[in-house]
Amino acid sequence: MEMNIALLPGDGIGPEVMEEAVRVTRVVARRYGHKVEFAGGLVGAAAIDKTGNPYPDETHRLCMNADAVLFGAIGHPRYDSNPRAEVRPEQGLLAMRKKLGLFANLRPVFTFASLMDQSPLKNHLLKQVDFLVVRELIGGIYFGQPSGRSEDGGTAFDTCLYTREEIERIVDLAFGFAMERKHRLTLVDKANVLATSRLWREVTMEVSKRYPGVDTDYLFVDNAAMQIILNPSRFDVLVTENMFGDILTDEASVIAGSLGLLPSASIGLHTSVFEPIHGSYPQAAGKNIANPLAMILSVAMMFEYGFQMKDEAGLIRAAVEASVNERVGTPDIARGKTCSTRDVGEWIAGYIDNA
Ligand code: IPM
Ligand code: MG
Repeated sequence: MEMNIALLPGDGIGPEVMEEAVRVTRVVARRYGHKVEFAGGLVGAAAIDKTGNPYPDETHRLCMNADAVLFGAIGHPRYDSNPRAEVRPEQGLLAMRKKLGLFANLRPVFTFASLMDQSPLKNHLLKQVDFLVVRELIGGIYFGQPSGRSEDGGTAFDTCLYTREEIERIVDLAFGFAMERKHRLTLVDKANVLATSRLWREVTMEVSKRYPGVDTDYLFVDNAAMQIILNPSRFDVLVTENMFGDILTDEASVIAGSLGLLPSASIGLHTSVFEPIHGSYPQAAGKNIANPLAMILSVAMMFEYGFQMKDEAGLIRAAVEASVNERVGTPDIARGKTCSTRDVGEWIAGYIDNA
């Protein structure tokens, strides 16, 4: 099969981890006889510097024409200290999600047996943790209008808005994943306070009737935040709105022991995008110390969800797991000797080549 992949490395450590993603994609494609073409585009602060726009039209065209998009990271400290900056790198990410119609963000949370000591949680809580957060990505308070400031600047407002259709399409997708997994689905909302949450609950109850084989439950987001730490192995598929999903997935990432381990896939109406859940980690940029595993595992998700190639995805995951077991790790997960970003990528590529 021929694969056209757009590469948007973005800011900070994005370019370094992307290099390893490309290395791994190339060897997997070679092993399985796929032809792969890459084309690079600008996004984030890197794009603002060159074009003034964090998601230039040219980048959008590139993504629309690609079979899949690999995305590094976005963000730069120069904007974080300036709340009044007119253009921000993050707007590029939000514009990309919206324009590509990426309504579902899949964030799997899992642990590596040999890294359990890295997690701040006690070992016995971590066994059998394997859940999938399905986060709505192009609605809710992130995009609702009106949003802004009053004329005198003394009042600010955001709008949280969801339609029945927006909720139904993602909840239905989440039930589909639950059917392929452990047949449990949890809706996370704040239905005791928010009108949007009550609509989410109503729609989820309706959709659940089409999936009698799935055990469905409902949790308020504050309680869910607690349960994720107290009893993470109870979850299978969690489905939730945009901002709750943003917050809960950062929280859930500590279970794995490092933010540098978790991948994500954003799927929807046009091309799908695969990106690590970590940010641009500017302190590490250019130092060859960033953990490439989240990016490499995002490549595995690309093979699985972007190209329906489960064997290829499985081999990448096996290689990553082997690297962790062999203690080939960047400083965030190293036990003993530390490896560079490139060392880890090369080790994994070598494993795949020889598998
Ligand atoms: C994420 C990030 C983004 C979000 C930011 C960078 C806009 O935190 O992908 O989780 O809030 O969605
Ligand atoms: Mg986030």
